[in-house]
Order: sequence, then C-alpha cells, then structure tokens
Amino acid sequence: MRNYAGTPISKDEVDKLLHAAMAAPAAVNMPPWKFIVVTDKTVLKKLADGLPFAKMLLAAGTGIVVCAAPEEAALGSKEFTLLDCACASENILLAAESFDLGAVWTAIYPNKEVMDFVRNELNIPQQVIPLNLIPVGHPVAQEKAKDKYQPKNIYWNKWA
Ligand SMILES: Cc1cc2nc3c(=O)[nH]c(=O)nc-3n(C[C@H](O)[C@H](O)[C@H](O)COP(=O)(O)O)c2cc1C
Repeated sequence: MRNYAGTPISKDEVDKLLHAAMAAPAAVNMPPWKFIVVTDKTVLKKLADGLPFAKMLLAAGTGIVVCAAPEEAALGSKEFTLLDCACASENILLAAESFDLGAVWTAIYPNKEVMDFVRNELNIPQQVIPLNLIPVGHPVAQEKAKDKYQPKNIYWNKWA
C-alpha cells in the first residue's frame, strides 16, 4: 500500500504490529531485531525527503524501521540476522493487512548511502543494519489481493 488517508494509526495498533513482528521465527531462537517506531512529523519529513522510495511516509503517519543487530543473532551471523529480520518485516506486512491497515516495505539495506543516512537521522549504532522502513497507515482504499501464483516456479520432488 502506497496511498494513505492521512490519519495515523493508534498506539494500540502499533503495539499489535510489533507483537506480530516479534512472533517471527529466528535462527536458534535468537531474535536479533530492533524496531524504531517513528511518529514525529519532523523526523518523518526528514526521512521522506532523504529516502528515494518513502515519499508516502507523511501521509502514512507512522514508519517502522526494522533494524538488524548481528551481535544478537545466532553465531553473530549477519546472514541469519538479515533473514530473521526479513521474517519479522513480513509479519508486520501481513498483520497490517489483517487489521485493514496499509503497509509497504521500502528499501534501506543494502544501499550503503541510504543506510548511513538513516543511521545518522535516527542515531542507529554503526554495527546495526537498518533493513527497511515500513510506512504504516490507513489506506485510501482497500486493495484487492493479487493472485501472483505461477506454476512455473514450482518443482515437485526434484528441480526438473
Ligand atoms: C527487499 C524489498 C525491497 C523493496 N523496496 C521497496 C521500495 O523501496 N519501495 C517500494 O515502494 N516498495 C518496495 N518493495 C515492495 C515491492 O515493490 C513489492 O512487494 C512488489 O512491487 C510487489 O507488490 P506486492 O507486494 O503488492 O505484491 C520492496 C520489497 C522487498 C521485498
């Protein structure tokens, strides 16, 4: 969802989204995620101005920056960290849809310049990876679920 009505979601809704996020699977059950919830209009505007694909942030009213902290992940692995945090991000997107809210993954990682910009704006420590920014808000209209099923992407038993 990239078109928002302009009325921010409630704190209770944010809380539900974060509950869903933290219900995600994590390697060795060592969740390495941190979430920065941005609701301050000045900060939202700075992020919207500085990020290439997050212009809808002000209209959404809330942005959740999913951050990956490798030192808290299984084996201190950056790969596990990113996988775990992608799972948490998807949970936020699915939960938002289930609550009739709108949300979209906007990219931060792996663009180094964008990562540095977000780190700088939000005081994120250097070793922590800002993975994405998820604007969440009330959608202007409910979108129909798309059918993206493609049989060509499925193999049974072996690759071919
Ligand atoms: C790693 C990743 C990066 C993405 N980056 C952006 C982005 O920067 N801006 C954006 O509007 N959507 C972004 N998306 C959302 C995709 O564009 C979107 O999932 C795709 O167009 C399919 O649309 P759908 O999810 O509504 O089916 C990203 C999704 C992923 C998984």
